[in-house]
Amino acid sequence: MAGFDSGKRRVFVFLSGLAVVVLFINLSLLSGTDVQSKIKSIPIPGKPKAAAPDPNLPKIPSWHHDNEDFENYAKISDQHPIAGLMKVADDAWESYEEDRSTTFKETVAKYRRKYGRHPPPGFRDWYKFARDRNVHNVDDFEQIMDDLRPFWAIEPEVIRSHAAHLSENEGNGISGLHIRDHKIWKMTFANWRMETFAKMVETFVEFLPDMDIAMNRLDQPRIVVPWDEMQGYLAAEAKSRHILVESPADWTKNMSNMLKDNDTAPVVTDPKFFSAHAQQYMLIAKEACPPESPARDGVSSVAAAESLYKDPQGGFITNFNRSSDLCTVGPAIENKHGALFVPSTIVATKSLLPIFGECKVNVNSDILFPANMYYKEDDRYDYDPESPSDYSWDDKKDLAVWRGVTSGGTNTAENYKDMHRQRLVMMANGTIMAEKEVRIMTESTGTRGVYENFPQFHPSEFANQHTDIGFTGVTACVPDCNFYDGVWDIKPLTPLSEQFKNKYVIDVDGMSFSGRWRAFLQSKSLGIKSTIFREWHDSRLFAWRHFVPMDNRYDDLYSILTYFIGLGDPSDAGKKGLAYIQRHDFEARRLGRQGREWASKVLRSEDIEIYTYRLLIEYARIIDDNRDRIGYSGDGSELDKYDAKKPMSFSNSGHV
Ligand SMILES: *[C@@H]1O[C@H](CO)[C@@H](O)[C@H](O)[C@H]1NC(C)=O
Ligand SMILES: *[C@@H]1O[C@H](CO)[C@@H](O)[C@H](O)[C@H]1NC(C)=O
Ligand SMILES: *[C@@H]1O[C@H](CO)[C@@H](O)[C@H](O)[C@H]1NC(C)=O
Ligand SMILES: *[C@@H]1O[C@H](CO)[C@@H](O)[C@H](O)[C@H]1NC(C)=O
Repeated sequence: MAGFDSGKRRVFVFLSGLAVVVLFINLSLLSGTDVQSKIKSIPIPGKPKAAAPDPNLPKIPSWHHDNEDFENYAKISDQHPIAGLMKVADDAWESYEEDRSTTFKETVAKYRRKYGRHPPPGFRDWYKFARDRNVHNVDDFEQIMDDLRPFWAIEPEVIRSHAAHLSENEGNGISGLHIRDHKIWKMTFANWRMETFAKMVETFVEFLPDMDIAMNRLDQPRIVVPWDEMQGYLAAEAKSRHILVESPADWTKNMSNMLKDNDTAPVVTDPKFFSAHAQQYMLIAKEACPPESPARDGVSSVAAAESLYKDPQGGFITNFNRSSDLCTVGPAIENKHGALFVPSTIVATKSLLPIFGECKVNVNSDILFPANMYYKEDDRYDYDPESPSDYSWDDKKDLAVWRGVTSGGTNTAENYKDMHRQRLVMMANGTIMAEKEVRIMTESTGTRGVYENFPQFHPSEFANQHTDIGFTGVTACVPDCNFYDGVWDIKPLTPLSEQFKNKYVIDVDGMSFSGRWRAFLQSKSLGIKSTIFREWHDSRLFAWRHFVPMDNRYDDLYSILTYFIGLGDPSDAGKKGLAYIQRHDFEARRLGRQGREWASKVLRSEDIEIYTYRLLIEYARIIDDNRDRIGYSGDGSELDKYDAKKPMSFSNSGHV
């Protein structure tokens, strides 16, 4: 999609069948009420034919059929809650797109307006680096600013001392990266995570000042600062904001408390780590929640908490951010997610320490950076753009797939049924669900396009037909995994590319976040996501535009799948015990397509480098004795040539 004019954004919908036809839909039409009738089909000359579908695939309706359905259906105003959620997401995403700065001056002005400060030293070089790599949104680094905000309340030399020494004691589970003289000087207790991180930092280390970085090398996040203390830090940060007219433009040199060769200087304060393996995480987590939140107020019902992030119709997630906020959903899921009730390695602290981590839950104060797995080039987690099995949409099976092992916490015969992955596999098991009822939505009797809750759906048959969800192995059991004999039908290992033969790919957490998520977005399948973890990319991914969010309890699994895949016959509507819902394959295909296009703009390896580089100059300012430093002098007009609207040339970059 090179040369794509952001001013006239379009959504490309590929319908492939016997011939490849591309439907161009102007995005602005998509938000209107009368979208479908305005679609025009434009054949693309010279476009290669799609690969022949796998002959082993079950016969699925051709796109002609879908399209007829779709044309008929276009005349009906679809009032399904998901239609509304997609519209809200499209609007939010459009504002996000329109709000992007295109020039350096605009970027700096926005920075000052938003954060009440000058950008840090090195900002100019970072800006060039980002533009050279075609950054899509040069402003959206909100996560970095949020993560570093409380550290403004801590003295720079104290942070430096922690950063230098936290990795000294191997038992702390922290690796160190030490940058001196624009080079990686050394690493402490490096494992693959630190080695991958260092490889990424190498791409811009020449622009960084000296610094020590402490990186978590355990799966689980580390820091939970109690709420009142955190409010104090945040207030101190807000008070410290100011913009000086004259500021020195370079980093302070030769600062105290950096790691030295054969350093014997003691850590300024004790990190006060404590371990809480296999204990209820909410006991620790809730201390970081606001007193009036459901996690702490002791009175909020599950229903009251649900009203904050969930639609009572169908149970769809209306606020994905909130759906993983432990202060809100903690009481409802504390015994339903392995990482919350049988966590494997919790070594936490209540002290605000500068620890970089790949993921966290909302109550943690770890400093996020893009997970190493996304940068490492590991076939198990990477999307292969050449893969012949990522079929075009219409050749994919109408199935929701999930594969994985029984990780997510310590499995025992008593607890496994409550662990998150195990619950998913059981919920999609037609045998286990045989006697169970779940809530979905059905189209109401008289009025097409109007839906109501249908709480007594027997999902067994639908599960057998439309899900392929199972374990590829058992692990992490105490005392051993024998209690699993006969419980699961263990499936053969299924590479990601094989999973993309299906339309719907479900992603749930493991021990911590799921490293497959980027590949799921990059694929031509549609990702359905449930998680309690936060990652670097959260603010750039829009639920209901780039993926389908799912409740951590999965009580919306069948209302989601029946919406997209369809259920029953129109004559079933309103009949006792029967549900009918129109198939929404077009919507699924569109979401999948949007997720894929978006991933190719904002989740590239370059985006990971740009994010981490920005993170490290913001961090460098936090640890600098003079935090008032400014990123450049003059008005920055020499950077005009990097304006986003002009075509960018990689050849004029001095440092690719
Ligand atoms: C760095 O600072 C220390 C003490 O603050 C001083 O002894 C040393 O000479 C300085 N080194 C440089 C290169 O300025
Ligand atoms: C640090 O210790 C190592 C090993 O004991 C020694 O070889 C090296 O010379 C020491 N470096 C400094 C700067 O003291
Ligand atoms: C589904 O449940 C049945 C009965 O418990 C079990 O035999 C079967 O192996 C399960 N299937 C999967 C995919 O785990
Ligand atoms: C999630 O919500 C919190 C609290 O309102 C907010 O600070 C944060 O920016 C939100 N994150 C995203 C990705 O929207």
